[in-house]
Amino acid sequence: MRDLLHRPRRLRRTPALRRLVRETAVTVDDLLYPMFVTEEAESSPIASMPGIFRYTVDDLCRAVEEVANLNIPAIMLFGIPNYKDDMGTEGYAEDGIIPKALRALKKQFGDTVLLTADVCLCEYTDHGHCGVIKNSDVDNDLTLQLLARSAVCYAEAGADIIAPSDMMDGRVGVLRSALDSAGHSRLPIMAYSAKYASGYYGPFRVAADSAPQFGDRRSYQMDPPNRREALREALLDIEEGADIVMVKPGLAYLDILRDFREQLDTPLAVYNVSGEYSMIKAAGANGWIDEERVVDETLIAFKRAGADIILTYHALDFARRLKIKCS
Ligand code: PBG
Ligand code: ZN
Repeated sequence: MRDLLHRPRRLRRTPALRRLVRETAVTVDDLLYPMFVTEEAESSPIASMPGIFRYTVDDLCRAVEEVANLNIPAIMLFGIPNYKDDMGTEGYAEDGIIPKALRALKKQFGDTVLLTADVCLCEYTDHGHCGVIKNSDVDNDLTLQLLARSAVCYAEAGADIIAPSDMMDGRVGVLRSALDSAGHSRLPIMAYSAKYASGYYGPFRVAADSAPQFGDRRSYQMDPPNRREALREALLDIEEGADIVMVKPGLAYLDILRDFREQLDTPLAVYNVSGEYSMIKAAGANGWIDEERVVDETLIAFKRAGADIILTYHALDFARRLKIKCS
């Protein structure tokens, strides 16, 4: 019998060979680490997200020291206010938790760590919806005005990137012009363009105490079965001035990520959300999976599918391991 001409295994024989032909890699430069900051007097762990905390501003600054030391380029901030009302007032208050955190971080870290501010109202409204309620519906255009105030407020406090996650129509355009009129034309907008109404946000909503008190988010977040609609959302956001577009959640929406990569020229972010993190952590803690292997495999999947930026709660652990490997 003639020997086989094609033997793909030839290139898999040793670690060095595999390294040489490896097509993708996740580096520390790809990571954006989401963090929670609270107005409560003390930091507290988030039970369903081992390793993740609600930090006071002081503790947040200490935690970001490690982020900076690990050379992670950017963080995302989510605020947890003490006071909530039906208009989400604390979401655009000058002395709100996010502006406070931004000012402290900017002072300590300057431009070494990019400060991304999530812009949405759900952490600040007593009803937990991402906008203002009128006639028992989230009022799109009224909400836009408040989101614009949040964006400008965070910009003034030192945010480097503005990231609207509310899924109201037209928010990118309204935020862009509000930022420009306030003298912040240099600030990029990272739009949560394809944000699906997902069960994977469960742990986040407990952590941020932001679960809707009635109904759900299906009238503004995307319907999971829809693929073409995601591209439409992204094209609208880009037309309105988005600098970076995002797909969220990550693992269950890798096809959307691949679509975006093939159809769009903008930098592309993916959000490896709280529920995805919790599942790996829980299975890992039980010894059912090898946590590090599964994290590596998950992050590389995002890169392979086309992501430039990976928002992940694993960022710190992953960067620690990269550092050990390099030293
Ligand atoms: C709020 C917001 C959510 C997340 C980021 N911003 C939750 C939601 O829409 O309920 C989810 C992040 C995560 O699950 O890690 N607009
Ligand atoms: Zn929201």
